Amino acid sequence: MTAAVSPGSPGAAPFGSAGAAPFGPAGSEGVAGPPAPGADPPGAEAARAALAALRAEVAKAVVGQDAVVTGLVIALLCRGHVLLEGVPGVAKTLLVRTLASALALDFKRIQFTPDLMPGDVTGSLVYDAKTAEFEFRKGPVFTNLLLADEINRTPPKTQAALLEAMEERQISVDGAARALPDPFIVAATQNPIEYEGTYQLPEAQLDRFLLKLTVPLPPREQEIAVLERHALGFDPRDLSEIKPVATAADLAAGRDAVKQVHVAPKVLGYVVDLARATRQSPSLRIGVSPRGATALLAAARAWGWLSGRTYVTPDDVKALARPALRHRVQLRPEAEIEGATPDGILDGILATVPVPR
Ligand SMILES: Nc1ncnc2c1ncn2[C@@H]1O[C@H](COP(=O)(O)OP(=O)(O)OP(=O)(O)O)[C@@H](O)[C@H]1O
Ligand SMILES: [Mg+2]
Repeated sequence: MTAAVSPGSPGAAPFGSAGAAPFGPAGSEGVAGPPAPGADPPGAEAARAALAALRAEVAKAVVGQDAVVTGLVIALLCRGHVLLEGVPGVAKTLLVRTLASALALDFKRIQFTPDLMPGDVTGSLVYDAKTAEFEFRKGPVFTNLLLADEINRTPPKTQAALLEAMEERQISVDGAARALPDPFIVAATQNPIEYEGTYQLPEAQLDRFLLKLTVPLPPREQEIAVLERHALGFDPRDLSEIKPVATAADLAAGRDAVKQVHVAPKVLGYVVDLARATRQSPSLRIGVSPRGATALLAAARAWGWLSGRTYVTPDDVKALARPALRHRVQLRPEAEIEGATPDGILDGILATVPVPR
């Protein structure tokens, strides 16, 4: 399947056909009435086109999974971290590796294992016999895009080292703080099933991820396309076909443009109403915090801009509600036993909270 992306065409929604919901169904009702355009700063159009080209580039290696690619681009624009969840073998690792190749950014990968130490992530002091001094050897966190693969296979102490770096954007060793590069974005993968010997991420720390993206099993036709590629000799270890099509400068220009995206007061009100509804839901033990509401707004704004607009609509908010909020709510045990899921509860809230017009 080739990606139908035409970044050049004016008014085209680069991440899907206009009005398409990238993360599943979102009603078409509630599209904000008259547009209240902010300004698109100079360079914004070129940045948007470059980020749209990213998707086409990733599609050379990865079949489908468009919503996941879009989510990763939104995170890059928001300087946010992403948790990717999916069963083994759905191309979580391949996706992030390909995205890194399509971006002119520094990239590193950490395979989390039970015996990984915090210093293996952050770096550590090593003794230099020549100078008879200790010097800091940077760990793999010193990069722009970090793939933290199978993060739940490592014990809490090592997870904590990464989560701290994510929050602080610096590493403190021996009393000295060392800033991480900018951007610094973590894409962490985990399996949804609690296998033996895995360590679930602490609930309180899930809030540090801007988005939690679920990587689904492919539909039949897409799985056939994956097999076809392999039959034609595609080797997932060799990504030399993938060329860098977007740069850190494109991301910076995109970020500036997103800051200009107009947010109407009624859209702010809608985000807050959604967050408040999660706190009142009888199925939830913990609802979304104001930090979560902020994350939803930031992601919706980035998505609005990527869709070719200079204002954010209630539909943008709806489209991002699940990935921005699903990891920030906790089900009550009763609801869990009855088979409720965070996505199901959020869908119910989206269906009942009045959408501003
Ligand atoms: N959508 C897809 N497009 C292209 N290749 C795919 C796709 N889904 C699976 N594959 C193939 O399956 C292989 C496994 O993918 P990958 O190792 O990235 O999975 P994973 O989700 O990271 O698995 P794990 O959880 O075991 O780490 C890929 O290298 C690729 O060959
Ligand atoms: Mg993997």
